[in-house]
Amino acid sequence: MAVLDRLALSFLHRMDAEQAHRLTIRALKCGFGPKSRLSDDPRLAVEILGKRFSNPIGLAAGFDKNAEVMGPMAATGLGFVEVGSITPRPQPGNPRPRIFRLPADQAVINRLGFNNEGVAAAQACLAAFRAKDRNTIVGVNLGKNKTSEDAAADYAAGAKALAPFADYLVINVSSPNTPGLRALQDPAELRALVQAVEAASKEAGASPPILVKIAPDLEQADLEAIAGLALEPGIAGLIVSNTTIARPDSLRETERAAETGGLSGKPLFQPSTEVLKTVYRLTAGKKPLIGVGGISSGADAYAKIRAGASLVQLYTGLIYHGPVLVVRMRRDLAACLERDGFTSIAEATGADAR
Ligand SMILES: Cc1cc2nc3c(=O)[nH]c(=O)nc-3n(C[C@H](O)[C@H](O)[C@H](O)COP(=O)(O)O)c2cc1C
Repeated sequence: MAVLDRLALSFLHRMDAEQAHRLTIRALKCGFGPKSRLSDDPRLAVEILGKRFSNPIGLAAGFDKNAEVMGPMAATGLGFVEVGSITPRPQPGNPRPRIFRLPADQAVINRLGFNNEGVAAAQACLAAFRAKDRNTIVGVNLGKNKTSEDAAADYAAGAKALAPFADYLVINVSSPNTPGLRALQDPAELRALVQAVEAASKEAGASPPILVKIAPDLEQADLEAIAGLALEPGIAGLIVSNTTIARPDSLRETERAAETGGLSGKPLFQPSTEVLKTVYRLTAGKKPLIGVGGISSGADAYAKIRAGASLVQLYTGLIYHGPVLVVRMRRDLAACLERDGFTSIAEATGADAR
């Protein structure tokens, strides 16, 4: 890592995690992000969801909650960015502090609770962005307001406003910080949400593919039910996974580990990759999967791909390594494919799950 990048990271890590994040967003908006001018190795290209991704590495939801820095983040060399989670009405989220770094574990615990500026603000940002950039692949991740009683109406409101700007939509039913949200992973509930989002998108004159983002804490029976549902036409793919409410015994930051919230980063890698592999097997590779959880290197991304992912995403890895990580990951991922004799990501997808 270049000296300047190391300095910037150590400066940010001396601040409260949320303050550091706000400063990072501001710096990115002012054009201070790194820019990758390298073109992608053609072997990294992925064609799914009706799009051509020039590389499979994407930004996970939660970093750009209000769709403010899609361009600067794509410029770091990512193949796509996902914004959100966005709720219909703006909401402040939980009281602070609500993001905790666990440096010895290369992990984070957050209990933000969908703090965001709401659909109208995101719509304005996305419309302005689309007026100048049609190429960057942008996924829009939808959530529900904490106090809303009608989840389907919330996801539909998000879809109606944002589908015209989205390359794909995500129904996020797996964040641990909104009471009752994860119960929406129940197949009957989920089917109703997918239908509501589909109908609302159509009403808005758009029909982006709909993905569902699931938790890593689901039991085998739940995974079987969701995989069954995912094989129905309404769901284009699954994102595996969100943060975990589990606290693996391996955690070294035992005091911080006691904080309530979702755990992300390195300790999530193995459990989320296991779930990914299970879902790949259950869906027989018939629907694209996006692998997320604990990725911080090209080798990690490659392991997710071999476990069944067509695309991958990361967030916590960027907190510990900075955005320069992306260029290194692209190079190392191409080297992994080369080493194992694969000529494309598609060939490697699911190699460990068959
Ligand atoms: C601070 C923070 C905020 C997050 N907010 C969201 C969110 O709003 N919606 C969502 O679907 N996932 C959210 N996530 C989960 C990430 O998208 C990702 O699924 C998870 O962190 C695992 O990936 P990672 O280990 O690379 O961070 C958030 C994660 C973090 C660390």
